Amino acid sequence: MSHFADEALAGVLPTLSETLTEVTQAHFDEFIAAARQLIAGAGSLQDLQQQRVTLTGKKSALTTWSKQLGKLEAEDKKSYGASLHEVRSAIQDALTEQQQALEVAALQAKLDAERIDITLPARGSDKGRLHPITMTTQRMQQFFVQAGFNVATGPEVEHDYYNFEALNIPSHHPARAMHDTFYFDAHYLLRTHTSPVQIRTMEAGEPPIRIICPGRVYRCDSDQTHSPMFHQLEGLMVSKSSTFAELKGLISEFLEAFFGKSLTVRFRPSFFPFTEPSAEVDILADNGKWLEVMGCGMVHPQVLKNCGIDPEEYTGFAFGMGIERFAMLYYGIDDLRLFFQNDVRFLKQFS
Ligand code: FA5
Ligand code: MG
Repeated sequence: MSHFADEALAGVLPTLSETLTEVTQAHFDEFIAAARQLIAGAGSLQDLQQQRVTLTGKKSALTTWSKQLGKLEAEDKKSYGASLHEVRSAIQDALTEQQQALEVAALQAKLDAERIDITLPARGSDKGRLHPITMTTQRMQQFFVQAGFNVATGPEVEHDYYNFEALNIPSHHPARAMHDTFYFDAHYLLRTHTSPVQIRTMEAGEPPIRIICPGRVYRCDSDQTHSPMFHQLEGLMVSKSSTFAELKGLISEFLEAFFGKSLTVRFRPSFFPFTEPSAEVDILADNGKWLEVMGCGMVHPQVLKNCGIDPEEYTGFAFGMGIERFAMLYYGIDDLRLFFQNDVRFLKQFS
């Protein structure tokens, strides 16, 4: 009889009566077994809720039977009551057990779906690195520090006395025009070279002096080999016995150490108001062109005097190198503006 809504129990139900007193213990046992099977077959919590309604809801066999208990004789009420209690607890237990199993399975499925595969390689982390100009400066500095030079610094906003006047470049001097200076006012300017640090060092100290000064300098100038902001590394040595031969030896040794290979180098006679004699150093680049990398010379006696050093007692030599030019030669780059465009594709190539 299919009076019950329990369609899934179709195999068992025909053996059951809607009338409680007609149901035997064997029937109850069969019913319990079928109910357990039905519950165990629930594949989801939603399914299980459906079975719960089917087995214990208003239209279920259990409810139908339970309603009849009240009308039974005391003796039957007791025994059928006990049987129904057994059926109900068996169903409840099975429902609880299946619910727990489904919850565990659902949690496991969620964990599986969200699992992080720790064996996968990590997403690449991009390390920062030093700018090629910084690395070049450090390499240059390393040589001179090992040769006994101290590192000195000076202001980038400079007074024209230090940038020009004390270096033997008076205001009417044509060399001022050659420097393409950025002025703030009549006296303050962006230093056009690192040579003012020579003056500040000689003013402040006594010979012997052995310093290098790396730093930024500025000129209204821009093309493939000139940048409005660039870097120089100044060197100054003042002692009782400094000579041009020593200067030339030091620079040659430096060039060999820096490039780690022999280069075609020339010392070209030149002029700077603050050195006498003066020279410029050119290196033959891969493209067959000479690249001027530094100016140098013996410190002019007037400059020593300007700083309170007796030129009869002391002599000195000085040099000023263009750091970008060294970096260009070292890395084989033919346009120095690349150093300042901050294109990471360019910068990433240096490590
Ligand atoms: C000077 O600046 C002198 N103070 C150098 C010096 C120091 C001579 C001590 C004697 C004694 P010069 O203007 O030539 O000299 O510049 C020196 C170097 O800086 C050049 O050889 C070149 O390598 C570099 N340089 C000059 N202008 C630029 C620029 N606009 N961009 C990049 N590098 C430059
Ligand atoms: Mg020059």
